[in-house]
Amino acid sequence: MTERLSPKRSIPPWPKPLPYTSNILRRLARGWKSWFGLLNEWDFRIPLGELNLLGLPVFLVNSPPLIRKVLVEEVDQFPKHPYTLWILEPLIGRAIFSVNGEEWQWQRRLIDQAFQVAELKRVFPAMSDATKALLDRLELQKDNPYIDIDKEMTLVTADVIMRTILSRPLGGGEAIKIFEAFARYQRRAGRALVLRFLRLPKTWVQKSLQKDANIIREWILKAIEDRLEQHSRNPPSHLNPVDLLDCLITSQDQQTHRSFSKEELVDQICFLFLAGHETSASSLGMASWLLAFSPKDQQRVREEVKEISKDRQPNEMLRADDLRHLKYCVAVFNETLRLYPPVGFFIRERSQSETTLSVPNGEKRRCPLGALLTLSPWVIQRHENHWPDPQAFRPDRFLEDKERTWMRDAFLPFGLGPRKCPGAAFAQQEAILVLAELVRRYNLSLISGHTPELMSRLTLRSVNGINLLLQKAD
Ligand code: HEM
Repeated sequence: MTERLSPKRSIPPWPKPLPYTSNILRRLARGWKSWFGLLNEWDFRIPLGELNLLGLPVFLVNSPPLIRKVLVEEVDQFPKHPYTLWILEPLIGRAIFSVNGEEWQWQRRLIDQAFQVAELKRVFPAMSDATKALLDRLELQKDNPYIDIDKEMTLVTADVIMRTILSRPLGGGEAIKIFEAFARYQRRAGRALVLRFLRLPKTWVQKSLQKDANIIREWILKAIEDRLEQHSRNPPSHLNPVDLLDCLITSQDQQTHRSFSKEELVDQICFLFLAGHETSASSLGMASWLLAFSPKDQQRVREEVKEISKDRQPNEMLRADDLRHLKYCVAVFNETLRLYPPVGFFIRERSQSETTLSVPNGEKRRCPLGALLTLSPWVIQRHENHWPDPQAFRPDRFLEDKERTWMRDAFLPFGLGPRKCPGAAFAQQEAILVLAELVRRYNLSLISGHTPELMSRLTLRSVNGINLLLQKAD
């Protein structure tokens, strides 16, 4: 049974912030299940929040000039907070995401190099094959009363990352077990952060994460060893790598002449698997749900896709060049990333010296050395000072020459500055292809009585799936 939608429903449901409480332990208890519980309703109205968390000064940075100071202008003095490393270290060691300074710089140069070689056109066939496999799976389920689109998006993004990193499709049981271990790790890591705030020892916190991390790391180590063994018989060409793993093995840093060691490759690949599929699955699940929520936007995307594919065979997949014509589909994806950013929170630490945090209304706060700063796309992108009608789903606001009325630096689903996500273009290409192919073939509708229950941990996910009715489009 599908729901009828009235115009009042342009505001899609979201976990509303809870009333203010000055009781820090109560807030931490609220944050145990989902980091959203750490927030209060007024956090969505103020430019800068401050609290003392059991002796640790904590700031919530919402004002765009301050966001720029932290992420761009004084990025070296606001490195990633050590808590990021603590909750991810069992899985990704000292890979790019959580380290700072020179240790981060040379890794970033190598990752950028690898992404340049594995350019978008080269990875497109792998994305297209994984999308075709998704469509085949959906066809097999055509008599089901509903589809858990979140599960399907998790599978297709895991398949894309398998094909682009390791050149093999997501095969049956083994790979699925690995992605389930990723999901469990993410759940436990969310809780580990709250335990860390309560000052539980690092080793104790990390121990709870080690089991799932080991399952994943051993599997990735084996894949890397197999590849290195192949290379010893048949050396790879730097100019013609077969996949991202080849790119990472053959890249060398121009400045330090360093390449990744075997252990470092395991760290980086573990992180790329995590970063590359969890975030994309989250955004694709929510984008599908929003299209079902707003049938007129869904129809507009469908017409756009039909226009570019009108002279093609029905089974012919879209081509890489088609995607740049899908402007409304891109706007829908951006509006999804605004309302439901997959990475809801970044944490940084003030280092080197204390500083002052000033906001445009003249307010000033002392930010001591060692303070923890939270920048939350979830809050900033729904903040009433930065966005007109912030809770409404209105993809039009992202169309050129129309409504560019939001504050600069208030849209940061991929971060900002030197630490900005290097996979943003990859993620966008993948998302537009999957959404366009889905909507081209199916009408998506809501299921009465089902609303995704969203939780924020390392990424934003729905704990009860995202159930939709899929019917063949004409
Ligand atoms: C919708 C999908 C994605 C979103 C929303 C996303 C978002 C982010 C965010 C917010 C950061 C950190 C910014 C910060 O802390 O300042 C990040 C970092 C990163 N992401 Fe993504 N990401 C996505 C997809 C991908 C994909 C597909 C890949 C690779 C295949 C990737 C690779 C990375 C890497 C390597 C970093 C670390 C960069 C650094 O620390 O220098 N991401 N991403």
